[in-house]
Amino acid sequence: MRSVVFSLLPLLLLSYESLAVKFTIQRPPKSTSRSSLRTPKASSNDNLINKKDERYTVNITISGRVVNVALDTGSTDLWVKPPEGLPSFNDTTLNATLRYGDGTDFVSGDIGVGAFVLDQYTIPFQAFLNVDDAADAEQPDFDDGIFGLWGLGFNTPGSSGVNDAVQTAFGTTATWGQSVLANIFAANQSGSDYIGIALSRTGDAAGTADASLTISEYDSDYQAVAKSPKITQNPLNSGAWTVTLDGLSVGGKKIKWPSTMAEAPAGKNIVHLDTGTTNILMPAEQVAAIYSSIPGAVLSPDSQIPPTKFSTTGDIWVVPCNASVNVVASFGGQDFPIHDLDVTDMQVVTSPDRKRNFTVCIGAFTDVGAIVENESDALFGDSFLRNVYTVFDFGTGGNTKGNPFVQMLSTTDATKAHSDLVTVRSALMASMPPEISPLDLVKIFNGTEKAGTQGAPASGGSDSRNGAWPSTPSLSLATAISFLAFISFF
Ligand SMILES: *[C@@H]1O[C@H](CO)[C@@H](O)[C@H](O)[C@H]1NC(C)=O
Ligand SMILES: *[C@@H]1O[C@H](CO)[C@@H](O)[C@H](O)[C@H]1NC(C)=O
Ligand SMILES: *[C@@H]1O[C@H](CO)[C@@H](O)[C@H](O)[C@H]1NC(C)=O
Ligand SMILES: *[C@@H]1O[C@H](CO)[C@@H](O)[C@H](O)[C@H]1NC(C)=O
Ligand SMILES: *[C@@H]1O[C@H](CO)[C@@H](O)[C@H](O)[C@H]1NC(C)=O
Ligand SMILES: *[C@@H]1O[C@H](CO)[C@@H](O)[C@H](O)[C@H]1NC(C)=O
Ligand SMILES: *[C@@H]1O[C@H](CO)[C@@H](O)[C@H](O)[C@H]1NC(C)=O
Ligand SMILES: *[C@@H]1O[C@H](CO)[C@@H](O)[C@H](O)[C@H]1NC(C)=O
Repeated sequence: MRSVVFSLLPLLLLSYESLAVKFTIQRPPKSTSRSSLRTPKASSNDNLINKKDERYTVNITISGRVVNVALDTGSTDLWVKPPEGLPSFNDTTLNATLRYGDGTDFVSGDIGVGAFVLDQYTIPFQAFLNVDDAADAEQPDFDDGIFGLWGLGFNTPGSSGVNDAVQTAFGTTATWGQSVLANIFAANQSGSDYIGIALSRTGDAAGTADASLTISEYDSDYQAVAKSPKITQNPLNSGAWTVTLDGLSVGGKKIKWPSTMAEAPAGKNIVHLDTGTTNILMPAEQVAAIYSSIPGAVLSPDSQIPPTKFSTTGDIWVVPCNASVNVVASFGGQDFPIHDLDVTDMQVVTSPDRKRNFTVCIGAFTDVGAIVENESDALFGDSFLRNVYTVFDFGTGGNTKGNPFVQMLSTTDATKAHSDLVTVRSALMASMPPEISPLDLVKIFNGTEKAGTQGAPASGGSDSRNGAWPSTPSLSLATAISFLAFISFF
């Protein structure tokens, strides 16, 4: 089983060593408007690659190499580590280490400069980290063919290890050290500085948004987002996509959730919107408010049940797979229902005695612990962002010089979400081991009960049945992986 998907949230204490800078490259010229064309792309509504609902990626070309990189609104820098390496690039010899999540996840290497190409966008001189060493936590992404990360965040000092290092060494005129987005925006001063992101949902029978990333334009399917309220970055200049959450309701009732943030308006919270986080992380008490409302759901403290998503604790909520719960997040006075399929993950587990397999559904909202302490109250990653079309606007560009804000358009029909869940899960479960009650499952895993004759034999006999749904094994793996994705923003 794969380890949990870490968030790519960068740790604010990212470090870089800028000592003994050897100036081995020529300072790249300022990019000219010629270098980046912003002609709208014909089909910009399906250009992202969804990796198991855990990472949303895009193929970029950097220094002549095509690299599949994960999109991360929770960080700012671009780093790559393609297996074949890069054909050639200009090496600043500036070393940098970028840290993510709780800080144990890291990448380090040299800051290089090369041409960045994506669709019609070309930046001839773009700084990036050419990674030569990465934490083991990165291995699951490498195994999935994801060999880098593209940060879509801010150049605010402290938010970009690469830009900070370049500016320290080369001065503030070295704009090639800025983020990719900043350089794309700089190449066309007349455009507005925003991106639009839609994330797709795997296996959703009713169909969801195609996954897309657009720059300075909207996905043609979601033009209506232009009329959505502007939700200003809060705290301002946080260096991250942090915004005010009006509240979270469960079954139509707003849950109690005192904010830890001084900047949160009374009765509200502040959350990170982070595509690099796979799931949703909130304080344990608010997570409990969601799952304890579901009949039959059980908390398994310090569980032996393999997690599907990253959590700062070993506590796991086991939930009936067909359970329906109406969770709604409100931003800017608008309601955004969260699809039932995003509230729990389904996977196959083997009993501790290795004799029986079970299908189990586990809560996708997990304990945020202290990882966003003093930065926000929660991490709203892909499990939330699949339910909205989001515009991340830096507030600049064109004639504008304002504060960053986001605009969101709901893409989830709450009235269809439950039947959708039942359709999808019934189809999957037809070829999966049986589900037993969450309470019985928890007892089997905490040693209170033996697996006995419940469940399906863990080996032998029934393999042919699995042919009916070949993707089932990877579904369970996928869920296991997804929790890793969440860390990315710090
Ligand atoms: C610059 O952006 C504007 C507004 O988005 C767009 O109309 C124009 O075509 C862009 N220019 C180039 C050269 O791409
Ligand atoms: C991305 O790159 C990989 C490897 O080169 C290729 O197999 C895949 O088709 C590409 N996908 C897209 C959507 O460009
Ligand atoms: C390295 O920088 C030089 C000088 O600016 C430039 O001519 C060359 O194309 C760059 N090489 C790469 C691989 O970016
Ligand atoms: C960067 O790291 C490499 C490899 O560890 C080392 O050889 C080089 O001296 C370092 N450069 C600086 C400027 O510290
Ligand atoms: C879920 O399935 C169980 C057993 O198959 C059934 O008793 C229960 O009514 C279902 N619950 C919902 C909410 O559909
Ligand atoms: C958060 O702020 C409090 C009060 O200023 C401080 O004591 C604590 O160390 C901070 N936590 C982190 C992780 O920075
Ligand atoms: C196992 O879980 C059950 C159900 O939550 C609980 O009643 C029991 O005390 C737990 N036993 C152990 C040993 O943790
Ligand atoms: C039981 O689960 C294990 C681990 O997921 C798997 O390797 C095995 O093939 C499963 N057996 C059956 C009969 O599904």
